[in-house]
Amino acid sequence: MIELINVSKRFVDNVVLDGVSLQVQEGETVALLGPSGVGKSVTLKTINGLLRPDTGDVIVDGLHVQRLKRKELAELRSKIGYVFQYGALFDSMTVAENIRLGITDETCYDDAQYCVNRVQECLRLVNLALDVTDKYPAELSGGMKKRVGIARAIAGKPKYLLYDEPTSGLDPVNADVIDGLIERLRDELGVTSVVVSHDVRGSFRVADRVALLWQAKIRAVGPPDQILASKDPAVQQFLERDLEMTLIQAESQEGREARGRNV
Ligand SMILES: Nc1ncnc2c1ncn2[C@@H]1O[C@H](COP(=O)(O)OP(=O)(O)O)[C@@H](O)[C@H]1O
Ligand SMILES: [Mg+2]
Repeated sequence: MIELINVSKRFVDNVVLDGVSLQVQEGETVALLGPSGVGKSVTLKTINGLLRPDTGDVIVDGLHVQRLKRKELAELRSKIGYVFQYGALFDSMTVAENIRLGITDETCYDDAQYCVNRVQECLRLVNLALDVTDKYPAELSGGMKKRVGIARAIAGKPKYLLYDEPTSGLDPVNADVIDGLIERLRDELGVTSVVVSHDVRGSFRVADRVALLWQAKIRAVGPPDQILASKDPAVQQFLERDLEMTLIQAESQEGREARGRNV
């Protein structure tokens, strides 16, 4: 289980989180939504100890993250796969080398044959053909890079997966593919996940529960249907604005496709 209890975090006079509490049960997928700059990435970083809250507690797998010593934190992190917002692949490494970095168990990491097999398994799990193994990130499309980032995050067989904007920058078709993947990984690996996003449509598809971060607080949390039916003006405002964004993106995508056909 992942538990944030009354977590606050500020940067100088910028109060980013102000008493945020959130529980993610074993096997559950929770989408953390909110406008850009609200503190979604900061929240994720407190979960794996990349950032330390000023006050409050973060408990993952029964452990108080802030109280862990370096070695204990490294051990906990080996159970947490992190899908970074911009993929964070190493340009000078092949796909296989990037994925291998996600193998957290040292004995496994040193076993070359294990690594070859595990890289292939992970590529299969994210629906990538094995012929990408020796390619470099620059040779891949945006959607493929995101999938390699996910493959790296699952390579260490994590119990928890934290996704930071897994579909941002993708067209709707590729975003759907990634959302499908998030669902599949939940079902096949039984992982507990937090999916940070500002894409309402995708999040509502993959999440068991949705939490809206709004002005430094969790403004609403519940199953997608309940959030959609919320009468809270802040929730409605967020959902409506996002819906508009989705329509604009879909229109510009159609425009691109139409132009593509004319060439
Ligand atoms: N390391 C940092 N130092 C100072 N300010 C930061 C740092 N990380 C994030 N912030 C600020 O915290 C706020 C929330 O950022 P972030 O969590 O990245 O937003 P988002 O919801 O878009 O992921 C922003 O105002 C950002 O500028
Ligand atoms: Mg972010």
